[in-house]
Amino acid sequence: MLNTQQLAHWHEQGFVALPGFKSADELRAAVTRAHELVEALDPGSQGSRFSTRDRSVVADAALLASAHAVHGFFEEEAVDDQGQLRVPKSRSINKIGHALHRLDPVYRDFSHGPELASLAAALGLQEPLVHQSQVIFKQPHIGGEVGWHQDATFFVTTPQTVTTFWFALEDATLDNGCLWVEPGGHRGARGVLREQYVCEDGQLHMRALDNTPWPDARQALALPVPAGTLLCLHGLLPHFSAANRSPHSRLAYTLHATDARATYSPLNWLQPSPGMAPRGLE
Ligand code: FE2
Repeated sequence: MLNTQQLAHWHEQGFVALPGFKSADELRAAVTRAHELVEALDPGSQGSRFSTRDRSVVADAALLASAHAVHGFFEEEAVDDQGQLRVPKSRSINKIGHALHRLDPVYRDFSHGPELASLAAALGLQEPLVHQSQVIFKQPHIGGEVGWHQDATFFVTTPQTVTTFWFALEDATLDNGCLWVEPGGHRGARGVLREQYVCEDGQLHMRALDNTPWPDARQALALPVPAGTLLCLHGLLPHFSAANRSPHSRLAYTLHATDARATYSPLNWLQPSPGMAPRGLE
């Protein structure tokens, strides 16, 4: 699946870009389905509403409720105090998650297959378990910045195994908020897990683990990629995406997988559901 050069790049840099991993037909199906899902969303329903009065509690409940469902999340400023949208739904959706790979037929197909399974094996996931999927919209003009983080923060395993599969459903450019990474930042003294996002007594919070500073701008490498590219990221690789101030959306679809042979932290915000145990990529 990966040639020697790509594999060496993965180990040294902590990421690998695979242009053309998804065909034009697969992209069209995924983008069309994303817009259909948005059309079907009720902005006032649980899982999609932000409250300005009691934001943290409502946001926690909404996030937890979405773990094994298909829920939409709207840009905070797009929703008023009554939970009504100020702008059209299609322009205010932030993301849809977190079990599209299990519950939506189009994304189930998109998320599984022999190519993906053999790629995961090449990246070290011998027994991959997919925990989460998201469509991220990064809306024109208002798509917000996502600051430096490591995806292992959300999926701690011992040893560390979480791997991110980030599919560009549309071109990701410098203007519309492509990913930026710290090349090699997953290794050595830089590759320490700084935070863990935990759920304790139904409350979500970020727990500090290590005060190693985040990279500065000079250490960041932009990864503009054409639609159809699959970017794989090591769970400890620091990365961020800038705000989208362009007139173009930047749709992406992500999967996060760990290895079943590692121990999955009972504190992770997303715990397997008894009725829907995580599955592999075949
Ligand atoms: Fe991330």
